[in-house]
Amino acid sequence: MKKSLLALFSMLVIASLALAACGTPAPAATEAPSASQVEIFSWWVGGGEAAGLAAMQKVFEAKYPNIKFVNAAVAGGSGTNARAVLATRLSAGDPPDSWQAHAGQEIIGTYVAAKQVAPLDDFYKAQGLYDVLPKTLIPLISQDGHPYSVPVNIHRSNVMWYNPKVLKDAGVAAVPTTWDEFFAACEKIKAAGKTCLSLGPQWTAMHLLENVMIGTLGAEKWNGLWTGSTDWNSADVTTALDNYAKALSYTNSDHASLTDWQPATQLVTNGDAAFNIMGDWADGYLENAAPDGLGLKAHTDFDWAPTPGTKGIFVFLSDSFVMPANAKHPDATNAWLTIAASKAGQEAFNPVKGSICARTDCDQSLFNEYLQSAGKDWTADTVVGSLTHGVVANDAWKAKIDTALGLFLADPTKVSDFQKALADACASDGACK
Ligand code: GAL
Repeated sequence: MKKSLLALFSMLVIASLALAACGTPAPAATEAPSASQVEIFSWWVGGGEAAGLAAMQKVFEAKYPNIKFVNAAVAGGSGTNARAVLATRLSAGDPPDSWQAHAGQEIIGTYVAAKQVAPLDDFYKAQGLYDVLPKTLIPLISQDGHPYSVPVNIHRSNVMWYNPKVLKDAGVAAVPTTWDEFFAACEKIKAAGKTCLSLGPQWTAMHLLENVMIGTLGAEKWNGLWTGSTDWNSADVTTALDNYAKALSYTNSDHASLTDWQPATQLVTNGDAAFNIMGDWADGYLENAAPDGLGLKAHTDFDWAPTPGTKGIFVFLSDSFVMPANAKHPDATNAWLTIAASKAGQEAFNPVKGSICARTDCDQSLFNEYLQSAGKDWTADTVVGSLTHGVVANDAWKAKIDTALGLFLADPTKVSDFQKALADACASDGACK
């Protein structure tokens, strides 16, 4: 892991030099009189996600009974709605007391670049965080040596959840490990009258895109897309996009109208579809007992494997929380960050959320089999960053990619137009500038 995260770090440093302005430590604001509350902004509203936040809230309320926890979560997986609301609030000078922000370019190339968050050097020292967070993760939330957020977890993007019974009934004997094997399996599943690959709204299509691209290009060429060393116009990228178009052809036709990722994941567990490619927050949803999840049994009701072509690769993202620049309630925010950073907070949150701790000292026996396996892979695999969840591209670049993707989803035969639009996005807002 170390080597690959270091490579990712150097890549992000290059990107942030190009994309981010230098962060200037923000002066600590004066505590306003109504500091007895802390407004925490996230997009953890749905199945599995809200329960993780609630578990951490409980730890917070036990330690700080005098500070009211105000849950300002806005529904919409991967922050699609929440991040728009947040952007409006930030530009109006009305930041929440702390908000969910992904490690990588979402923090460095977006919030730090816009001077919307304050550095946390003293907090890191006081909490001893340099000793308990992976040394390779800290650079991804830092600019010029100053840390800007508190990571609460590590999520994996490249998980293929599947229904073993649907595979068996369709005569698919082995779980596909390459995209070609996947398409062969899809033919059988289609012939058996089922959807091969379940998909939800557009952000889940970007999530699928990153997985098909990494599974086709491999880790090194994927990293190169974000540093300028892999050409977006290359034949390799064309092959990856052809695979993506093919994968889309096996998805449920109503994907754009699904409300979020949970209904897409549920198509698999209902037995209507064979596969769903989704981050491991799905594990919380699948395994938590109702009403926080579906209460399903691993290996029987559902199973998992790395997405095709990504065995030995861990596509990572990390949720973290920030201190706003000119915070309204710095002491209350500090209290929240103390819980988010703590062993107790992370041990309460992650087993329910379906993620592993960002801290390296959590008790592994608190985690289920899937999460223990993710913990092992995180330390053994080649780690690369997620596009959909903020690691490799800042908001401006990602928005251009999303616009190109929207057009492509409307007509997935137009692979070369899509490739050109992606290359243009790199030239106008990304590493090819
Ligand atoms: C990601 C986030 C995860 C999970 C997921 C689906 O962006 O990092 O924690 O919430 O979206 O909503």
